[in-house]
Amino acid sequence: MAETILIDGHDKHAKYTQLHQQLRHLTSVEPNMTANLANIASALRMVFGFFWVGFYLVDGDTLVLGPFQGDLACTRIARGKGVCGAAWADESTLIVPDVDAFPGHIACSSLSRSEIVVPIKCKGKVIGVIDVDSDQINAFDSDDAEGLEQIARLIASLYS
Ligand code: SME
Repeated sequence: MAETILIDGHDKHAKYTQLHQQLRHLTSVEPNMTANLANIASALRMVFGFFWVGFYLVDGDTLVLGPFQGDLACTRIARGKGVCGAAWADESTLIVPDVDAFPGHIACSSLSRSEIVVPIKCKGKVIGVIDVDSDQINAFDSDDAEGLEQIARLIASLYS
């Protein structure tokens, strides 16, 4: 059955709250992780119009590209490398207002200007990250961090 995400208003915090409620329902009826991550990436892009949004999943000592929406992306990122690898190693959300000012930023697209990466922690271990890129400088704030962290907790709860 096709599912629809319906979001009212313009307030970012309220949009994340509504999206989270609907994702909770959407993912509760589908056990497959790839299917759920694919729909979450699609919903995030649909609601917020992100330039690139997707998942990198831990595989040994590397992050491997998972479901995403946007241009082709790098497939493997080592722990501690780039924004994604740093958020994994730090086990905390990283907001990068200007990717050119982040040492070691991995540029999958030259159009990406700012980025947020949120680790997904399952039973105390990072199992992957949510990565969102914008083509605008300074596009992400604490509303994005809180909203994406809530979605990361939802994902972790599905697979713990
Ligand atoms: N910029 C990321 C790499 C992934 S792409 O943005 C899709 C990084 O520095 O880890």
